[in-house]
Amino acid sequence: MISFDKDKMIFHLKSNNTSYILGFLKEKFLVHLYWGKKLEFNDLDYDMFLDVMKYRRNMCASDYKDIALSRDCLPMEYSTFGNTDQRTPAFHATYKNGSFITELEYDSHVIYNGKKGINGLPATYVENEDEAQSLELTLKDNLTGVKIVLIYTVYDELDAITRSVKIINNSKDDVRLDSVLSAVVDFKESQYDYIHLPGAWARERHPERVPVMTGKQMVDSARGNSSAQHNPFFALVEKNTDENSGNAYGFNLVYSGNFTAGVEVDPYNTCRAFLGINPFGFEWILKSGDEFASPEAVLVYSDKGLGGMSRVYHKLYRTRLCRGKFRDKERYVLINNWEATYFNFDEEKILNIARKASQVGVELLVLDDGWFGKRNSDNCSLGDWYVNKEKLPGGLTQLASKVNELGMKFGLWFEPEMVSPDSDCYRAHPDWCIHSEGRTRSEGRNQLVLDLSRQDVCDYIYNCLYENLSTVNIEYVKWDYNRTMSNIGSALLPAERQGEFFHRYILGLYSILEKLTKAFPDVLFESCSSGGARFDPGMLFYMPQTWTSDDTDALERVYIQYGTSMCYPYSAMGAHVSIVPNHQVGRTTPVQTRGYTAMVGQFGYELDLNKLTDAEIDVVKEQIKTYKKYGEVFHKGELYRLVTPDNNYFCSNEFVSEDRNTIIVSNFVLRAVPNSPVYYLKLKGLESDGVYMDEKTGKSYRGEILMSSGIPYQLSADYDTKIIVFKKQ
Ligand code: DGJ
Repeated sequence: MISFDKDKMIFHLKSNNTSYILGFLKEKFLVHLYWGKKLEFNDLDYDMFLDVMKYRRNMCASDYKDIALSRDCLPMEYSTFGNTDQRTPAFHATYKNGSFITELEYDSHVIYNGKKGINGLPATYVENEDEAQSLELTLKDNLTGVKIVLIYTVYDELDAITRSVKIINNSKDDVRLDSVLSAVVDFKESQYDYIHLPGAWARERHPERVPVMTGKQMVDSARGNSSAQHNPFFALVEKNTDENSGNAYGFNLVYSGNFTAGVEVDPYNTCRAFLGINPFGFEWILKSGDEFASPEAVLVYSDKGLGGMSRVYHKLYRTRLCRGKFRDKERYVLINNWEATYFNFDEEKILNIARKASQVGVELLVLDDGWFGKRNSDNCSLGDWYVNKEKLPGGLTQLASKVNELGMKFGLWFEPEMVSPDSDCYRAHPDWCIHSEGRTRSEGRNQLVLDLSRQDVCDYIYNCLYENLSTVNIEYVKWDYNRTMSNIGSALLPAERQGEFFHRYILGLYSILEKLTKAFPDVLFESCSSGGARFDPGMLFYMPQTWTSDDTDALERVYIQYGTSMCYPYSAMGAHVSIVPNHQVGRTTPVQTRGYTAMVGQFGYELDLNKLTDAEIDVVKEQIKTYKKYGEVFHKGELYRLVTPDNNYFCSNEFVSEDRNTIIVSNFVLRAVPNSPVYYLKLKGLESDGVYMDEKTGKSYRGEILMSSGIPYQLSADYDTKIIVFKKQ
């Protein structure tokens, strides 16, 4: 809920466990007063902030009669460029006379139940008005008339706070927006660690934890997509914060394009966290009377460590970010032909894979890259979304119906945002790709990126997809995106609007996805980007799962899935069993291990099951049964990372089902050692006086014993993976 103290002009946003407080100091400066554990009383005041000012020797001019009062020394709630706050601004604009000064003051506010969507952008939502309250706080620059609406929502039960910003150009002139961040949060101190998720292709989201230092620390993307290199997520945690205890502050941007995400520590050891569209490569001309909406930032505080923070994100994203029929449904166990055949297939080869798969209980066959145009390698045909009759003489319709006859659903791969220079599409429309006249059109994987800032290109993509989905019984789509953007430019944007390209591209992408997923509500969409190069909340709004990584090696996946689970739920992670030796790293792991590692996510196979031994096929059959039985616990349950893989010897995850009656502990040996010491896994989230029975041994234990004494665990063989299932009695 949100309360407003009229006298002090203080807003208090309260969820079940957190408080977030802001107010107008001297009725003028909007300052950030508090974010953390819930405060019961509303008697927070400005005095302590003013006291602190006295000890600061004025670094820059003051804003007020009081010489010590300067924005640079205040915890500003939404900092603007060109005044006395000389740290990273949230907002930077250039006005008609060339001035870039913005000074904001209170204009008005409204508090209401529920939450509004953001026009053209993905965002978390409510199903009932009473789940959340929102505050729209309008600030005004009196000289130009520009208004900035700060939009906050606080989810009571879900314990999260979202922020976004709307800029309204009420001046009579155009305004050029140079930076519109979604949120800054000024922390009073800086004794934090900064955790972020760096990576690379096939090595996505390996968490890094470093101390916050004086100056700036940040990650960003200027590649056009959220990227494998960095993720639009970071956490600030106290030094003693671990998985289970300590303060953790999470920041995540619901956006799939260029972003900036970092912290700035000033000489007084205050720490400004910032998150939003990357100002580098961004400009936006806002016409008089027009509005601009920023993406949404999702802020999560937990005093239960990183684990507590992750659980809040998981539940919020699973239930109030993902949408559609598949949000709450257990999804299909699939088989994908990519690693089994790559481009080298025909109908019989695919059906052969499907037949075997149908016998073991697989429910969906996905035909990956290579089914269209004349594509036999990655050097042609993207953009030509009609079937390759040499490979599939009976077309997609025949293949889909033959797959359906096996009792399976049929799914198809597309890479709609791309075009190959060797394609009919490119030959007909060479100006449709991202390019700048006179500059090289650099290819990545022999392809160019279509210019989704153009409506005609978006229409073309939509129509191609529409045609295929409405004429063939396609029940699943894998939406791939295999290169980053370069040589930026759009043939249709005027010179002064070229800086709008990156954001317009993402708006174009979102508009296609919105239309398509609405037109085909029964199709399950999975997003992909060379694996997990666009694993972000923006894509999850349209497609409830993302292919986590092209690295399907079980050991590598333990690390990748661990990092991904910092803020994304397992229900969103596509995870498959592939052949060994693994195609990415050459490692051989048991099929059992590959199965247990994959089944915590959205489960499937990425191999030709005909190549497995009978004994391995028996394991596969059991895996599918286990997944059918427990998939829901992994996806909808609460995750407790009991031992994280940075331990180097093993890792252990515990899942507590929604009804809290099923507990699954999944252990993975990363590196076996002879004569292993005994480790005790102390379970979490149980009822102390509850009795839990180990399904396999039939032995029962009191919850308090499992939580305080723990269950013994010894390293067996390399990569050995087991699950232990407890049922509450
Ligand atoms: C990259 C994806 O991540 C793979 O799974 C596969 O679909 C290939 N693209 C196909 O080109």
